[in-house]
Amino acid sequence: MKLLSSRKPHYSPTPRKSSKFAPFIALALLLTIPLYTFPPSHKLLLPLLLERNNNSNLPCSSLPCNDGGGGGLTLRRRELRLGKGNYSRNRKVGRPKEYLTRVSTATHNEEPGIIRTKVLEDQKCDLFTGEWVPNPQGPYYTNATCDAIQDHQNCMKYGRPDTGFLKWRWKPDGCDLPIFDPHQFLELVQGKSLAFVGDSVARNQMQSLICLLSRVAYPEDLSAPTDQNKRYQYTEHDFNISMFWSPYLVKTGKLDPNEKRPFDLYLDEFDPHWTTKIALFDYLIISAGHWFFRPTYFYVNNRRMGCLYCPESNISHMTSVFSYRRAFRTAFRAINGAVNFKGVTFLRTFAPSHFEGGPWDKGGNCVRKRPFKRKETSLRDFSLEMYLIQLEELKIARRAGRRNGGKFRLFDATKPMLLRPDGHPSKYGNWPVANQTFANDCVHWCLPGPIDSWNDFLQELLKRENKR
Ligand SMILES: *[C@@H]1O[C@H](CO)[C@@H](O)[C@H](O)[C@H]1NC(C)=O
Ligand SMILES: *[C@@H]1O[C@H](CO)[C@@H](O)[C@H](O)[C@H]1NC(C)=O
Ligand SMILES: *[C@@H]1O[C@H](CO)[C@@H](O)[C@H](O)[C@H]1NC(C)=O
Ligand SMILES: *[C@@H]1O[C@H](CO)[C@@H](O)[C@H](O)[C@H]1NC(C)=O
Ligand SMILES: *[C@@H]1O[C@H](CO)[C@@H](O)[C@H](O)[C@H]1NC(C)=O
Ligand SMILES: *[C@@H]1O[C@H](CO)[C@@H](O)[C@H](O)[C@H]1NC(C)=O
Repeated sequence: MKLLSSRKPHYSPTPRKSSKFAPFIALALLLTIPLYTFPPSHKLLLPLLLERNNNSNLPCSSLPCNDGGGGGLTLRRRELRLGKGNYSRNRKVGRPKEYLTRVSTATHNEEPGIIRTKVLEDQKCDLFTGEWVPNPQGPYYTNATCDAIQDHQNCMKYGRPDTGFLKWRWKPDGCDLPIFDPHQFLELVQGKSLAFVGDSVARNQMQSLICLLSRVAYPEDLSAPTDQNKRYQYTEHDFNISMFWSPYLVKTGKLDPNEKRPFDLYLDEFDPHWTTKIALFDYLIISAGHWFFRPTYFYVNNRRMGCLYCPESNISHMTSVFSYRRAFRTAFRAINGAVNFKGVTFLRTFAPSHFEGGPWDKGGNCVRKRPFKRKETSLRDFSLEMYLIQLEELKIARRAGRRNGGKFRLFDATKPMLLRPDGHPSKYGNWPVANQTFANDCVHWCLPGPIDSWNDFLQELLKRENKR
């Protein structure tokens, strides 16, 4: 989180289309936040936060609106409206919610032409299309009742003054999404093990889950305090949670965030660190995102194919669209090939950041105090591109899974979270330090906060699994 501007990569990026991408060069430095380790604790059921109700809603006119963190990139401008049926220009009339149709852009290296993606599960109600509605009962824990909140997301501790952002719940259009019930959840997962695979946003969800469960039980931490990988055991409930730190999902060179040299990404090779353990789990939640904007060399077949923001001029400069698609394809291939894996894989899709008024390293911030309505924003540019890649790769994985029994499900965090510019730590992830500039964190989510709803989704998705 010590995002001093001196920590930016010291070489200037040379890619053809580089200038507009510059804000992304090290956005993911935000994601290298050190892990705060919390002591085991058994504090239960303490009173909820008192509401301090002073919402001051910023009108759109005072800030550039709709900059979902990917503004002004070189991709052809396209939007994904979240309204009923307004998925795209080429929407399929008649079954608008079930199809997502698009015309691929010139920047796509693969699969040109029209790609149609079926996004819905074979279920009546699409959980992920809806609105945020007021929920005066929230939140369901505080930093006083849960020790699993790591400092950088402990927004109340660092003086966030407004609490209105804690008072919303997600309402799907066609049904209700029940609020997380820790008793019910622990019953659902009895005898099961769950793994998160991803980066610090995955960890953010895991910590939310531990906090939501803390009203009933607190896990034993079986992991080394400094290890980014975590293992928690709920002995009484025979339930385990693991977190595999794998921000690129595939094999990488050493991931030292202070490293000046771009990372090596082996885009067609498994990250053995998690792929050798797949069969131990009943549920995998796979995610990845913001790290793909960092300087990297791309390897395929052990050969350097290109790079993103590397200093050399004799390498082909490519975009993260290339690495993102390949990384998911490889990760899903590992899962489909995992011997003895009988579990379910959830793809938790990309959660957009919400920098407004500038990029992350030029004073961009997220100061809104209430959610967007879906007509107020749209998914665009890089966020849209990454989301579509995920949907497409999920579809490909499912097709392969059909042959070997692999089960892949959509866990769509993108659509709900696009509407939550108010849920990020902003400057409330640390105390101000004299003479130091910190970037505002508009990537992670305050705890408690809107990311708690991801575990509402998780509970509902697991319930649906049991009914299949
Ligand atoms: C918000 O509430 C806090 C605490 O009640 C108060 O100190 C502050 O002045 C209020 N801010 C506004 C803008 O009303
Ligand atoms: C959907 O698109 C139509 C025109 O294409 C527009 O009139 C309507 O307002 C849009 N709805 C939403 C919710 O954005
Ligand atoms: C929790 O937040 C309050 C402000 O709401 C703060 O005073 C306190 O220090 C925080 N406690 C912990 C343990 O983070
Ligand atoms: C949870 O982890 C413990 C310790 O590794 C193991 O003994 C137990 O079988 C695991 N339980 C489940 C349900 O995977
Ligand atoms: C690229 O240039 C570097 C020196 O700048 C050289 O060491 C390297 O071999 C060159 N690579 C290729 C593929 O030409
Ligand atoms: C911060 O800057 C001020 C003025 O530039 C200087 O007097 C002070 O010593 C600096 N403090 C630290 C901790 O560097």
